Amino acid sequence: MQADLFGITYPPGLAVLRGFALAEAEALLTAVAAVAAVAPFRNMVTPGGHAMSAAMTNVGLGWVTDRRGYRYTAEDPLSGLTWPELPSVVRALGEGAAEAAGFAGFQPDGCLINRYIPGARMGLHQDSNEADMSAPIVSVSLGLPAVFLFGGLNRSDPAMKIPLAHGDVVVWGGPARLAYHGVAPLKVGEHPATGGVRYNLTLRKAL
Ligand code: SIN
Ligand code: FE2
Repeated sequence: MQADLFGITYPPGLAVLRGFALAEAEALLTAVAAVAAVAPFRNMVTPGGHAMSAAMTNVGLGWVTDRRGYRYTAEDPLSGLTWPELPSVVRALGEGAAEAAGFAGFQPDGCLINRYIPGARMGLHQDSNEADMSAPIVSVSLGLPAVFLFGGLNRSDPAMKIPLAHGDVVVWGGPARLAYHGVAPLKVGEHPATGGVRYNLTLRKAL
């Protein structure tokens, strides 16, 4: 295993592709804005009744949470309308990143879009609502930088801190597919592409 430029050595199944989405960043942000015009960002509620600090929307099959639990839905519960289609620029980037990380043939059917304002965070969790765990998760960072926390298969395993910048793409699958991960509270900042926020696009194969 080789250490990256931050001196971090990643566990098997985890890849950090620095700047992989830079060339498409503008097109991705345009797509996000178009999605949000139809399916607005909202702060969903966990089954425990807490509003999530990251605001979310979806394309394709959509990940949702409410008092009834976590699940994938074809429709946006806010509008009753089908979530917007997975934009081709998002799909192509996800497929390319998965292939570059050693997961050729990834066929995403949904993408969760997270929007973080300063202070917003995501607690350690597993992505475990998908049917097919042989498909990886592809996660694209846009705008303000964040610290990604990546742990092990148990919640109590120590988590490494991975700095993520605009255009970075993280892929995890295989032995790392069910690793606990999260995002440290976003720091205040200003990014030329997004202003005071960070977006994260997380492509999945839900079914
Ligand atoms: C997630 O785990 O859904 C979010 C990851 C991120 O925002 O980088
Ligand atoms: Fe996640």
